[in-house]
Amino acid sequence: MRITFLGHSGLLVEAGGKRVAIDPFLTGNPMAAMRAEQLKVDGVVLTHGHGDHASDAAKIAAECGCRIVAAVELAGILARKGVQTVGMNLGGTYEWDGIRVKLTPALHSSSYEDGDQVLYAGPACGALLTIGGKTLYHTGDTALFSDLKLIGERHRIDVAALPIGDHFTMGPDDALDAAAWIGAKRVIPLHYDTFPMIRQDGAAFAARLAERGIDGYPLKPGETLTIE
Ligand code: NI
Ligand code: MN
Repeated sequence: MRITFLGHSGLLVEAGGKRVAIDPFLTGNPMAAMRAEQLKVDGVVLTHGHGDHASDAAKIAAECGCRIVAAVELAGILARKGVQTVGMNLGGTYEWDGIRVKLTPALHSSSYEDGDQVLYAGPACGALLTIGGKTLYHTGDTALFSDLKLIGERHRIDVAALPIGDHFTMGPDDALDAAAWIGAKRVIPLHYDTFPMIRQDGAAFAARLAERGIDGYPLKPGETLTIE
């Protein structure tokens, strides 16, 4: 599995000949790894409706002719834009073309800004993405919550990607415990440095992970982590 950091909370995951983007936020992202038009994928997975996660999804899905997998309310909003969507809810699993997505709880909020309207977008989620026998757990935006331990116990997670930016999500102290509870050997920090309010030291976070025997990968936008 190859995981490329798109900036902010966006990941491009490639395995088994498939390419899936999770939370691609490229337009208006000062740290974006590429333009939305350059992202060629077989699917888009969204953890929730906030603009820094979902605002490019319809454009990408339209360009690529691929489906968007998201909470049923968010999927419904995006379906009205004429793109193919698959609406799910927490705990559900959906599989297509060798790509498996399970939505997990996240402790956050979710809404979708559509013009001057703010629409209810369902629950905030995390996503377990399994392709080619490897599983990535993207926690979505979340606070620390104890069921991260349960999710870690019940799934074989090869790599976890979680927010460390603080202010809108958990910060590094809580993310450190989240990483340990999830039990993944590899952790990619997300949702930091994009804007001044969420400035964090990714290298320092990785050093603290190392003290707990976890490999941290503070990827720069465009950088790739390969898991054998
Ligand atoms: Ni959010
Ligand atoms: Mn966010």
